[in-house]
Amino acid sequence: MLRTDGNVILIGFMGCGKSSVGRKLAGLLAVPCLDTDALIEEQEKMTIREIFTRMGQAYFRDAETRAVRSLTGREGRYVLSVGGGLPLRAENREILRKLGTVVYLKASVQTLAERLARDTTRPLLQGEEPLEEKITRILSEREALYEEACSHVVLSDGKSVREVAQEIK
Ligand code: S3P
Repeated sequence: MLRTDGNVILIGFMGCGKSSVGRKLAGLLAVPCLDTDALIEEQEKMTIREIFTRMGQAYFRDAETRAVRSLTGREGRYVLSVGGGLPLRAENREILRKLGTVVYLKASVQTLAERLARDTTRPLLQGEEPLEEKITRILSEREALYEEACSHVVLSDGKSVREVAQEIK
């Protein structure tokens, strides 16, 4: 039987630290670190930005579902960080819960805005709307789904990557 206990799945808003905490935690647990955005970029041979521009967001969302579905047969323990919008689909939330323990990395709007201030890689954050307002708006649409998808919430404000990873461990 496939063993998914021991896998840790990190969800949360862009900039909450999923990728850096995921890498640190994977190091502490001595397991591979996977990332759905990286899996999609590899599969599609395009960056996330290019996928949004050339193929559109709907295409990217389908690619996210394909990416998490592709992990359902994977053997061996791992840490997985997933794109901030992936838990929005009910099917994806169900798959994540089957893959392992889902941890929501929660950060305040202020922390997220500080970390994302100079980011140019995230299509959803581009545009004229002030960053804090944009984050507040998108987060308010997502927060309940992040809470629903996870079994644990870990706050990352004011903590180092190592501290957050240790706490999850
Ligand atoms: C997105 C988050 C990004 C990436 C894409 C869309 C989102 O991943 O998947 O830009 O909808 O929140 P990170 O959360 O790793 O930044």
